Amino acid sequence: MSYRVLNSQLICAKYEQTYPMIVRGEGAVLVDDQGRRYLDVSGATAAVTHIGHGNERVAQALADQARILAVHTTHLFHSPVVEAYFERLCAFAPDGFDRAWTVSGGTEAVENALKLAYQYHRAKGRSTRRRFIGRWSSYHGNSLATLDVGGLVGRRSFYSDLFPDLNLHVGSCLPYRRPANMTVEAYEDHLVEEFRTVVEAHPDEIAAFIAEPVVGSALGAGVPTDGYFARIASICRAHDILMIADEVMTGFGRTGRRFGCQHFGTHADVLACAKGISGGYIPLGALLVRDSVSEVLRNSGDPFFSGQTYSCIPLAAAVGMAVMDVIEEDGLVERAATIGAYLKGRLEERLLDLPCVGEVRGLGMFLGVEFVQDVATKEPWPDEIRFSKRVEAAALNHGLATLGARGCVDRVHGDHMLIAPPLILTEAQADTIADGLRAACEDVMAALG
Ligand SMILES: Cc1ncc(COP(=O)(O)O)c(C=O)c1O
Repeated sequence: MSYRVLNSQLICAKYEQTYPMIVRGEGAVLVDDQGRRYLDVSGATAAVTHIGHGNERVAQALADQARILAVHTTHLFHSPVVEAYFERLCAFAPDGFDRAWTVSGGTEAVENALKLAYQYHRAKGRSTRRRFIGRWSSYHGNSLATLDVGGLVGRRSFYSDLFPDLNLHVGSCLPYRRPANMTVEAYEDHLVEEFRTVVEAHPDEIAAFIAEPVVGSALGAGVPTDGYFARIASICRAHDILMIADEVMTGFGRTGRRFGCQHFGTHADVLACAKGISGGYIPLGALLVRDSVSEVLRNSGDPFFSGQTYSCIPLAAAVGMAVMDVIEEDGLVERAATIGAYLKGRLEERLLDLPCVGEVRGLGMFLGVEFVQDVATKEPWPDEIRFSKRVEAAALNHGLATLGARGCVDRVHGDHMLIAPPLILTEAQADTIADGLRAACEDVMAALG
């Protein structure tokens, strides 16, 4: 394997680390400059490559639109490709979503969703609605506002002195990590009451609640209890608090439904999307907005107070349209459900008998593995072991590009891995993932003695 130190990049995972040089992608496979092949298990970083690498149709659409028109003056013009794409996005969205807006990625999508919620309340004459409720162990982006509303301690704590101290956080819902001796029902009750308490303690202050329908990198595909979102939604409705579903990872078929929130009754008012929306072929994110919200803005007469250079540009719209063609014509939403169920079954078969694996979880092609030191007590690995990073490194030796992460137990401790490969994965490739992860875990356990 050839490794090179990076000399020109501002930051990299580790300054002294060397990396294989990836020169090409083919479907669900990445190829390095030595011809070594890696299965794209995390779906780039992460859950991006829904349609796989090297899709000719999307590459052609990108090249064609670049020749025709990449960007235009948005304060003077609209363009047919953007209008058509927005209509397509609204048709792809759950019922009742009638407006779309595109940006450059997930962070911008979430940030704009927060702004939109704020503007919604301002339009209703409520200038005190300036706070957002986020959840611990959730990631919503890397700008200051999205880090603040997010609850990924490892990423936000360095910048916390820069936060305005407005936002509120409640616990995420991860049944595997509920307190010992608590039933799943009691756990759900506890989280709902925690949420109600926060809301009632801040009357007329909260603009919106934001959550990932299934928590991605922060929890390793943490699926909530069945009734959680419906019960949270009824509290939000009672107080006219908007619900923002962060569908950056879970959208566009990843979980086996078009959007992750559709598994739980689609209570959201705004969907913030990115990643799979373009499959990585262009930086793209989107807001999809429920009619009841867009109507309030329209009635106020004010436009949405937003807009950046790459908002709503033809080039991104053409790529997004081609990606949606592939997703719909190749049945990738349905495929995520079936191949995802197959992959989950294979992971359970190959990993659950290992003494270092506590749970395999997730929906569709949005799966996770939690690593423990003791399966019976769910004792996590000590931080200094960096267990998930060891598995990540060992998996690379077995030809798997994975994402090991930390914090699933209590925001800080606990090791997990997010598994979000392209939705075009074959059963043979799913077998390779399950076998390779088993081998990687065995390597790590052998090295730890
Ligand atoms: C759930 C979620 N929201 C938002 C973001 C931020 O998206 P981006 O990295 O495209 O800015 C991410 C990125 O991983 C994410 O997983």
